[in-house]
Amino acid sequence: MAETTLDLAGVAKPEAYAELVRQIDVVLEGIDDRIAAMATISSSIHSAMSYLWTGFYRVVIPGKLLRVGPYQGTLGCLEIEFGRGVCGTAAATGKTVIVDDVSAFPGHITCDPRSRSEIVVPVFDPKGELLGVFDIDSDRLGAFDAQDREGLEAIVSWFSRPASGGIAPAATFTG
Ligand code: SME
Repeated sequence: MAETTLDLAGVAKPEAYAELVRQIDVVLEGIDDRIAAMATISSSIHSAMSYLWTGFYRVVIPGKLLRVGPYQGTLGCLEIEFGRGVCGTAAATGKTVIVDDVSAFPGHITCDPRSRSEIVVPVFDPKGELLGVFDIDSDRLGAFDAQDREGLEAIVSWFSRPASGGIAPAATFTG
């Protein structure tokens, strides 16, 4: 495979997300497998952006319980109830949550004490059912903003496309 590890840590977000979308689309071309997609997306973003933790929590009891899925980083907690912490809040509301300072977020679940800020994006299937959430933790305060929300929501749109549909061109990052 021609794809190599990307290093996008110092790259402006619009270009970084355009490059990530391109890499993920190429690697997942012709693949219709959610676990493979979760593993690929986690690895691609984690290694390119040098984050602390990058990965998925899957809905195992709708409306009640998330369980960890493919991820990169130190050990994550295994299960999170809907409504608990940042992941549980994103799952309960179906909305992206950005936390500039995790110490100020009520109920934040500390898996790694180095974590300072976080973004959690809900992941939907083609029917609009919640499949899980995509969680990224950074060791920097305020690492995530509306550009990350837009870029990451575009990337996880892979799961709401029809089989093997890839990331919708219309959903890719616009800046
Ligand atoms: N910080 C998260 C818990 C999951 S991990 O950090 C991997 C939260 O409060 O939802």
